[in-house]
Amino acid sequence: MSFSTFIDQSRHRVDQVINTRLDIYQSHTRLQEAMRYSLFNGGKRVRPILVYASADAIAESNGTTDQAAAAIEAIHAYSLIHDDLPAMDNDDLRRGKPTCHIAFDEATAILAGDALQTMAFDILSDTSDTDVDANTRLLMIQALANASGANGMVAGQSIDLCAINQQLSLEELANMHRLKTGALINSAVRLGALSTGIASEQQLTALEVYANAVGLAFQVQDDVLDVISDTQTLGKQQGADAALSKPTYVSLLGLDSAKNKAKQLHEEALDALGGFDYRADNLRHLSAYIVNRNH
Ligand code: IPE
Ligand code: IPE
Ligand code: MG
Ligand code: MG
Ligand code: MG
Repeated sequence: MSFSTFIDQSRHRVDQVINTRLDIYQSHTRLQEAMRYSLFNGGKRVRPILVYASADAIAESNGTTDQAAAAIEAIHAYSLIHDDLPAMDNDDLRRGKPTCHIAFDEATAILAGDALQTMAFDILSDTSDTDVDANTRLLMIQALANASGANGMVAGQSIDLCAINQQLSLEELANMHRLKTGALINSAVRLGALSTGIASEQQLTALEVYANAVGLAFQVQDDVLDVISDTQTLGKQQGADAALSKPTYVSLLGLDSAKNKAKQLHEEALDALGGFDYRADNLRHLSAYIVNRNH
């Protein structure tokens, strides 16, 4: 299967799980619409694709892999709704469309984010799928909770907001990026591997090294694109970081060094996969995609 077919297939699989789950939430139409809007407005689905690629590096993906992919995308969608709120990055444009709080209203956006967060754990704890044992499922739930919360993405977002107009050291910047973006990407790789039910500790450790590199590279490239791309290609406001005086890899290192950093992290990611055969090729392609993407 070619890499582009793999991407299409992964997107199709995760979309089906998300769609089916969203149909269940019928208590309030406006809330359901805001959730659907934020999950089906053109996200690249990088994290779900990482889940599938990581599972494939170990064994066949399965129904639990689908659950993991959908759960992580739900957390990601929630994180972006809240990231765009006036109290945070105050962005009007996301994926070429009005952000959730513009398309709906601020209160609905906050609630849609809240509901998407619990939706993730609703999906992941659904035991009607029996591909993994209960203990593995708990490990997956815990990994996602840790990556999302006060020692993961939310901590990174908190640091980010306190860093406005501040000069961070390179180490502090890397820490912020690892938390706000790397942690969730890390959990995508870990959950994909765990979903097979047969990942060894050695494989999980190697995949973690891969994911650490790719997770940081993802945010470095996001910082680079904020400077070199344009609003139409990005689907979000170009120059948003500079406008808010956010410390980024570009503001700290300069554009060329930031680009080199992304390339170097890509090499690190490939090195980490040294012990894997062709079955990890989609992970290798994904690392290249992440540092070469234009949006
Ligand atoms: C954007 O993530 C936010 C960051 C963590 C940098 P993506 O670039 O994966 O966003 P979508 O889902 O494809 O829009
Ligand atoms: C967002 O980082 C990270 C999240 C946890 C959502 P950014 O604020 O740089 O993401 P964009 O550029 O708005 O997509
Ligand atoms: Mg932000
Ligand atoms: Mg933002
Ligand atoms: Mg950004």
